[in-house]
Amino acid sequence: MNVYFDNAATTPLRKEVIQIISNVMEDCFGNPSSVHAFGRTAKTNLETARKGIAKLLNAAPQEIIFTSGGTESDNMILHCAVKDLGVRTIISSKIEHHAILHAMEALKINNGIRTLYVDVTKDGSVDLDHLKALLQSDDSRKLVSLMHVNNEIGNILDLNAVGELCHDNNALFHTDAVQGVGHFTFDMEQLPVDFLSAAAHKFHGPKGVGFSFVRKNSGLQPFIHGGAQERGLRAGTESVHNIVGMQKALELAYVSLEKEKVQVNKLKSYFIEKLRELFPDVIFNGLSGVENKSTYTLVNVALPIPADKSLLLDFHLDLKGVACSKGSACQSGSNSGSHVLKAIQEAPATDWPSLRFSFSIFNTKEEIDYLIQVLKEFLK
Ligand SMILES: Cc1ncc(COP(=O)(O)O)c(C=O)c1O
Repeated sequence: MNVYFDNAATTPLRKEVIQIISNVMEDCFGNPSSVHAFGRTAKTNLETARKGIAKLLNAAPQEIIFTSGGTESDNMILHCAVKDLGVRTIISSKIEHHAILHAMEALKINNGIRTLYVDVTKDGSVDLDHLKALLQSDDSRKLVSLMHVNNEIGNILDLNAVGELCHDNNALFHTDAVQGVGHFTFDMEQLPVDFLSAAAHKFHGPKGVGFSFVRKNSGLQPFIHGGAQERGLRAGTESVHNIVGMQKALELAYVSLEKEKVQVNKLKSYFIEKLRELFPDVIFNGLSGVENKSTYTLVNVALPIPADKSLLLDFHLDLKGVACSKGSACQSGSNSGSHVLKAIQEAPATDWPSLRFSFSIFNTKEEIDYLIQVLKEFLK
């Protein structure tokens, strides 16, 4: 049996998404910047997708800028905030995705930007009092970048609370919502968020495509230079088939969001229950074991397995066809590979192997039973 529990890494595409991508590839290959009929058809598809995505997030179509995915969107916002908006200090946390952390390091080295990291508690929550103190530490122009849903431990950030704090202190707010868009609803007209990043492959859409939400009149200038695509903000011929596929994936995600949330959450709860039976001492990393404080799609657990045995755990799971993740590439049984776990874990969890299991609507209860069986066999 092969089971896929790595949906935070990427999700399988929905059939309807594959179908629409294939239709666009076959029937609509024109360049959307061309003025002839082929180009105009492609342009219509592109703009219809933009309007569709904007509507689903209650944003304006011109606030949606298509990119190649989460990494580019994150880089675009951070670099442009420095380049175009006078930002001299970026505040983030040590448990962000590397797309943010490495972009910050580059901006520090190349542009002399001050980088500050807000404290996170042992359960992975952002310390808002510390954030306030950092925001008030000097009067430089600041951008705060904090992720909506943590991709390793699933913690959910209160975007309203953080956004209001930023705006009260005259700072801009960006959120990497790559793990949130398509899983939770967003009302961009109401949310105090200036910039947001999303990627289609996390909500059953294609890889290599995503978007940045850039609030109207932000003052951002081009990040990638070239043609006048994306209202001059992001040059390069748009990947029309992928963009249309992304819109379809997002639409389907939101049409059945509540139903699918319940379905996936049931799987998560069932897994937690079975795991607790098997490992009464199991430790849930971050808030991933707490309903409503973490996303319904993932669980990150430290398993009380002796060090000599834990080295074989990955191998055993792989051999039995179980795909899951350590949260980040890591060769040994310890968690030294994950910067997120390193920032929050304490003993004994630090001595145990940690695994991230992430679910989607394509998983079943039978697959969870199989996973538990595989873990039981391993313990024998
Ligand atoms: C929170 C978060 N940000 C950014 C990214 C990068 O997105 P992409 O793979 O589309 O570049 C990911 C993907 O793993 C992610 O989970």
